[in-house]
Amino acid sequence: MEASPGTKWRPLLLLLLAVIPGTFLTGSRHTCPSRCRCLSQDKVVFCNGRNLTAVPGRIPPDSELLDLSQNVLRTLQQGMFSRLQALKELDLSYNALSNIEPGAFNSLKRLMTLRLTGNKLKMVPSGVFTGLPSLAVLDISENEIVLFQDHSFKDLSSLRKLEAGDNHLIFVSSQAFSGLQSLRQLTLEKCNLTGVPTEALSHLRHLVELRLKVLSIGSVPDHSFQKLHRLKVLEIHRWPSLTALRPHSLAGLNLTALSITRCSLREVPYKAIHHLVHLRFLDLSHNPISVLRGRKLAELSRLQEFHLTGGRLATVQAHAFHGLVHFRVLNLSGNGLRTLEEGAFHSVGNLEVLRLDGNPLACDCRLLWIIRRQRRLNFEARQPVCATNSTGEGKVFRKFSDILPGHITCRKPTIEKETPPQRLSVEEGGRAMLTCKGDGDPPPTISWVSPHNVSLDASRKGRLAVLPNGTLRIHHAFPQDGGAYLCVARNAAGNDTMWAHLRVFSNFSVRVNASALNASSAALPFLLDVGTLAGILAIGIVPFLCSVAICFVFISLWNKGRGTAKHHIINAVPRYSRGYKAVTNRHKRVANKPR
Ligand SMILES: *[C@@H]1O[C@H](CO)[C@@H](O)[C@H](O)[C@H]1NC(C)=O
Ligand SMILES: *[C@@H]1O[C@H](CO)[C@@H](O)[C@H](O)[C@H]1NC(C)=O
Ligand SMILES: *[C@@H]1O[C@H](CO)[C@@H](O)[C@H](O)[C@H]1NC(C)=O
Ligand SMILES: *[C@@H]1O[C@H](CO)[C@@H](O)[C@H](O)[C@H]1NC(C)=O
Ligand SMILES: *[C@@H]1O[C@H](CO)[C@@H](O)[C@H](O)[C@H]1NC(C)=O
Ligand SMILES: *[C@@H]1O[C@H](CO)[C@@H](O)[C@H](O)[C@H]1NC(C)=O
Ligand SMILES: *[C@@H]1O[C@H](CO)[C@@H](O)[C@H](O)[C@H]1NC(C)=O
Ligand SMILES: *[C@@H]1O[C@H](CO)[C@@H](O)[C@H](O)[C@H]1NC(C)=O
Ligand SMILES: *[C@@H]1O[C@H](CO)[C@@H](O)[C@H](O)[C@H]1NC(C)=O
Ligand SMILES: *[C@@H]1O[C@H](CO)[C@@H](O)[C@H](O)[C@H]1NC(C)=O
Ligand SMILES: *[C@@H]1O[C@H](CO)[C@@H](O)[C@H](O)[C@H]1NC(C)=O
Repeated sequence: MEASPGTKWRPLLLLLLAVIPGTFLTGSRHTCPSRCRCLSQDKVVFCNGRNLTAVPGRIPPDSELLDLSQNVLRTLQQGMFSRLQALKELDLSYNALSNIEPGAFNSLKRLMTLRLTGNKLKMVPSGVFTGLPSLAVLDISENEIVLFQDHSFKDLSSLRKLEAGDNHLIFVSSQAFSGLQSLRQLTLEKCNLTGVPTEALSHLRHLVELRLKVLSIGSVPDHSFQKLHRLKVLEIHRWPSLTALRPHSLAGLNLTALSITRCSLREVPYKAIHHLVHLRFLDLSHNPISVLRGRKLAELSRLQEFHLTGGRLATVQAHAFHGLVHFRVLNLSGNGLRTLEEGAFHSVGNLEVLRLDGNPLACDCRLLWIIRRQRRLNFEARQPVCATNSTGEGKVFRKFSDILPGHITCRKPTIEKETPPQRLSVEEGGRAMLTCKGDGDPPPTISWVSPHNVSLDASRKGRLAVLPNGTLRIHHAFPQDGGAYLCVARNAAGNDTMWAHLRVFSNFSVRVNASALNASSAALPFLLDVGTLAGILAIGIVPFLCSVAICFVFISLWNKGRGTAKHHIINAVPRYSRGYKAVTNRHKRVANKPR
């Protein structure tokens, strides 16, 4: 009996419970604003592109997505969405919003995505984004925002992604990003910023991806990103005035991906990146970098991908990728490379993707390793093409797939070197032959570089000629031909060099040196002759005089009979003096000769 009131009301209650949702649903179906399209089952309302100047009334309050993009809304008043508490995504992009009152988004407790891109916002007053505890994505790009004031985003504690590109930003206040404790991704693009907002960024302790694009910033000061310990991805794109990175500009970072593209870097910023030992992806495309240097990336042992497309790369030095044991992707399309040698890699075993298209490749033995591996390498359907052969002559547009490995062989030249190095002396007017034998596959061509830095090769005929066997022949040598000659043996695989020295004695010095030699060798026997004569004279003077005396006696005795002995004695003495005179004259001549 006491329970009767409950039982009496129960049917009515059940009826109400059954009817209310029905009326609500039919009601919502009926209350869809006239210029909108409502998908009530998906709780989606499309009012985009309707020339709306105000937010329409009668939007179903259970809507989760409201698209008001491409209208002409100018302002948003405080609390104007407060009925729509179920809203998860609100799209207000491409309107004419220039003013948003603080509290406009109040009570949108479930809102996760707010798009305000393409409006006319000039500032983000503190308080505009209050009451959005769930907001994860905010897009305010393509507005006219000039500065981010302190605490502009302070209540967005769940915000993970902030798109702020394409504004007129000239200044980011030091506390602008405070409170964005969950922010993972930030993009600043096409702004008039002239420096990296280091202080503001330092509040983003959980930032993982930072994109700074189309900026006229010319330098990145040391420690610009010092406190972004969690940052993994940094993209710097289109900073035309950035020509170099300072050695400590990226200090404090522990990145896995770094892109510095379409800037004006002339060198790989080896010093700035060497500490990024967890880096896996590096993109330096569209920078005027001309050389990848040997062993400079060795510390980045986890690097898997390197991209430098559309640059001015002409040389990849040996060991350029030394130490990169996990290297998988190399993208060098659209550069000026004539070759890429296997010696540039730590090992080509892991290489999967190789893009070399758009380079004037010379197909010779240096590229043999690619031709051999072409089935295992992914060219992304862009086969490298031979533009020239090893001599650089002619245009031979041949696909790698048309080249058989057997056609190409390779061994770097080596020159048989003499120890000590070749030294040759010739007289002026004489002929010199400097030899140089190079070995290699294909056989190297030999050329010589003269002491006067003239390159001499087999094509040259004349006084100085390189013979087919590599010998440099110098006809009719001049003293000025003397000096150090460099022999260079070169083939497609490389070169080897050797020095040889030539000395050409001028006729003058030949005369002086030779005559000095002749003089000494002539003077020596002469001195011996004089000494001997003197000795003979000294020792033999008594027997001589005796024999003369005996002769005299003998002759006078004989003369007593004939009377002609005097004549003979006179004849004998001059014969001796004549001989002595001849010797002294010769001595005089030799002594006078040097001048
Ligand atoms: C919006 O207005 C423009 C002119 O102001 C008109 O050309 C266009 O058709 C209108 N669009 C809609 C959907 O009414
Ligand atoms: C930003 O730079 C662009 C082009 O350089 C210029 O048109 C614009 O007026 C600048 N904006 C500000 C706020 O300085
Ligand atoms: C750097 O990042 C890697 C993962 O990307 C992580 O394993 C490593 O611990 C980090 N090092 C430091 C010092 O934070
Ligand atoms: C290599 O670079 C080209 C041109 O920039 C690009 O289209 C291609 O996707 C790149 N390949 C890889 C694997 O990133
Ligand atoms: C390179 O090509 C030119 C022109 O096609 C040809 O004359 C020359 O012999 C070739 N050189 C080699 C080494 O194949
Ligand atoms: C030698 O000549 C070459 C050009 O043939 C030039 O590039 C080089 O600088 C010269 N070297 C010296 C030491 O003069
Ligand atoms: C090189 O060739 C020249 C002439 O053909 C010859 O006189 C010379 O002995 C050769 N030199 C060597 C090292 O073979
Ligand atoms: C020899 O080759 C090296 C590179 O391997 C190069 O730097 C050098 O200039 C070459 N020398 C000559 C004379 O060609
Ligand atoms: C130097 O002497 C050589 C003979 O030794 C001779 O053939 C040559 O003509 C001389 N040269 C000059 C410049 O006098
Ligand atoms: C003459 O010969 C000597 C060594 O015998 C040498 O040192 C000197 O330079 C030569 N003179 C000239 C002018 O070459
Ligand atoms: C030096 O002597 C040799 C023979 O001993 C001779 O052939 C040569 O012409 C001489 N040289 C000079 C400069 O007198």
